[in-house]
Amino acid sequence: MLSYPVRIALIAALGGFLFGFETAVISGAEKTIQQLWALDSFWHGFTVAASLIGTVLGSLIVGRPARILGRKKILLTIAVIFVISSIGCASVSAWILFVFFRFTSGFAVGASSVVGPMYISEIAPANLRGRLAGMFQLNIVAGIFIAYLTNFLFVGLGDHAWRYMLGIMVIPSALFWILLRTIPESPRWLILNNREAEAVPILNRLKETDVNGAIQSIKESVQSHQEKLFQGRYMKPVMYAVLLAMFNQLSGINAILYYAPRIFEMAGFDQTKAYLQPVYIGAANLLFTLLAMTVIDKFGRKTLMLIGSVGMIVFLGLTAYAFKDAHAANSNVLIYLIGFIAFFAFSQGAVIWVFISEIFPNSVRSQGGSLGSFTHWIMAAIISWTFPIIVEGSANGGFYSFVFYSGMMLLQLVFILKMMPETKGKSLEQIQKELGIK
Ligand code: GLC
Repeated sequence: MLSYPVRIALIAALGGFLFGFETAVISGAEKTIQQLWALDSFWHGFTVAASLIGTVLGSLIVGRPARILGRKKILLTIAVIFVISSIGCASVSAWILFVFFRFTSGFAVGASSVVGPMYISEIAPANLRGRLAGMFQLNIVAGIFIAYLTNFLFVGLGDHAWRYMLGIMVIPSALFWILLRTIPESPRWLILNNREAEAVPILNRLKETDVNGAIQSIKESVQSHQEKLFQGRYMKPVMYAVLLAMFNQLSGINAILYYAPRIFEMAGFDQTKAYLQPVYIGAANLLFTLLAMTVIDKFGRKTLMLIGSVGMIVFLGLTAYAFKDAHAANSNVLIYLIGFIAFFAFSQGAVIWVFISEIFPNSVRSQGGSLGSFTHWIMAAIISWTFPIIVEGSANGGFYSFVFYSGMMLLQLVFILKMMPETKGKSLEQIQKELGIK
């Protein structure tokens, strides 16, 4: 039987599954959609990107309601948006409505990337926090993998295949909503809102050994009259979260995930193979995320990031080298990209949502999480919009893109060595103290 904190963390992490599924599912449906509504390349790009615009907005504005209304209510609202969006996307006949529902599901993804990890880190005991918050990422990669797989299973079902691909998401969305009703509100949020009496039984169930001590230190960590994020004393966590989130996307991960088939075609694979490779990429992503989860609280976030950065520099460099002579690109690209994904999953993938959710003090966690997540989504949009433009615009576009990503990972290595603090095994309040925030 799973312990109570693990069970409720798993439920909140289902938002991550929907995040991953929503991100990857479109790769199987976008071609039919383009034909169905006869979209030129601009409007086609816009239709695909509508969801990313939603993520940016969702991550940006959710912090405030999560602070005022609580984490649980917002998670439930997110689940409802997921249910409505998946039914909407699968059943519309007008293009504009499709864009609208892709936007709303992206909005739910953005919001869930803030509130999911935040809720988990707030209920998790310190010694398990990395692993529990990491479940969010594990769910993301599981969602990506399942979407590639269901796309593959449904693709032969005729004209309406794309509706099944998108519509199947209603099942995990509804399950998310049902299960969310069984989880408690975050005890940290309750204490911040002077509802200690409700928090105590929850802390007891979460097996907090020193409930009074925990309440005391949570209270001390809050100076509720000073809740603005952008002020000198929060500069460090703001800087760390923004840099980590930027580097996450500057590795090129989402460009690779969105355009995997195109990259493999560039490398000279035929079409069938080009569409099969994403499944390998998805599986490697899943496997190495699992591995990272088992060691994140032992090795620490920083060690994972160090190992991952070195591996990513090497494999992105090798991928660039393979594209150096546009005609000589070869099958090694699959091996190089799997190598890259493995190191990404083991480091940045496993660390980003954990780190962003634990680096901010209680009083500004929702705004801080929102800022980190927003930075990630803006960068995701920039990277995935520029990649096809660069690749199509120049014969050596593949080479330049991967040299750039590899160079960025070198900068990330410097950031980790010189600045990134280690947060493993410490209570959220201890981290706050060590960052010099009183
Ligand atoms: C991380 C990234 C996300 C990416 C995923 C891939 O969660 O933040 O953007 O899609 O990893 O595994």
